[in-house]
Amino acid sequence: MEIKELPLPEDKRKNRFTDESKLGFGRIFTDRMLMIEWKADQGWVDARIQPYAPFVLDPSSLVFHYAQEIFEGLKAYRWADGSIALFRPEINAHRFNLSADRLCMPRLPEDLFIEGISRLIRLEKEWVPGAEGTSLYIRPTMIAVEPVLGVKASDHYYFYVILSPVGAYYAAGFDPVKILVEDYYVRSVPGGTGEAKTGGNYAASLKAAQEAKKKGFDQVLWLDGIHKKYIEEVGSMNMFFVYDDHVATAPLTGSILKGVTRDSVMQLAGRLGFNIRERQVTIDDLVADIRAGKVKEAFGSGTAAVITPVGLLGYKGENLTVGDGGVGKLTQKLYDTLTGIQYGKLEDSYGWVRKIA
Ligand code: COI
Repeated sequence: MEIKELPLPEDKRKNRFTDESKLGFGRIFTDRMLMIEWKADQGWVDARIQPYAPFVLDPSSLVFHYAQEIFEGLKAYRWADGSIALFRPEINAHRFNLSADRLCMPRLPEDLFIEGISRLIRLEKEWVPGAEGTSLYIRPTMIAVEPVLGVKASDHYYFYVILSPVGAYYAAGFDPVKILVEDYYVRSVPGGTGEAKTGGNYAASLKAAQEAKKKGFDQVLWLDGIHKKYIEEVGSMNMFFVYDDHVATAPLTGSILKGVTRDSVMQLAGRLGFNIRERQVTIDDLVADIRAGKVKEAFGSGTAAVITPVGLLGYKGENLTVGDGGVGKLTQKLYDTLTGIQYGKLEDSYGWVRKIA
């Protein structure tokens, strides 16, 4: 499909950031965006790269009422030689379509997803920051725009991609975060939308996150929605617990996100000689194991969060320090290896990296 490039008028060019150390996460957006529409009687049409601009949408658009929306998150990395690479974008393209299936939205050809993003970034390449730990966050999104109040799948969608130069997701950077185990609210249940990357999952998580913040925690760790017994995931990352003889992470039972970083971490840790076990960890066992000093390290993985050390877990009023509360050895090693590959400092023997400029 042809992707048109619309002109960028002088008055639509923004001032670029000046201090890369102050980027934060997702507050600055580049000059252009990618747009493709889907109409029931035509399929995918009118692919274009256009100036970044607000949408004018009918207030009755389905997305506003029934949350028919999905998104993805991936990053472009600037290498020391100035070139730009994506990391495993084909997995995001595929996962986007799994989310689309779950939300009754049309599938986007996966090569169009990657080609559209690559073309957009080539035009916006000056926006890819180069300082340590920074990248260009890519947010592909699809929304239902048919103006009707009946509960139904839309007959008109916008697929769009916006770009945001970012630093660390957490204000603490690579310092260990504090996570509260949530034992009242639930994020998802079997058969629900927990595995899909859809806005509603995140809206439903805000209440718990707000209450956790008031208590001094950074995010919550969700338990399974039926028994409130098994560890699932943190809002923006999959979780790993490092024991002496293995690394435990929750299995993909359909209610947690199939993280791209999760999969990468499992492969990297396996190659480093660690025994990765996808197993159901009960919160009671985890608490007992942390108290007994058997859990040496804990960390989360995610595109935005990269690899984030977890230093403290709160559960039922008790604060449990994991290991020595600092950044664990494996956590550091995985962070260095993963980011080493993403930024082209280490050889990519996995074929994960895709140069686009
Ligand atoms: C990502 O890691 O890319 C995500 O989508 C998490 C997000 C909620 C910031």
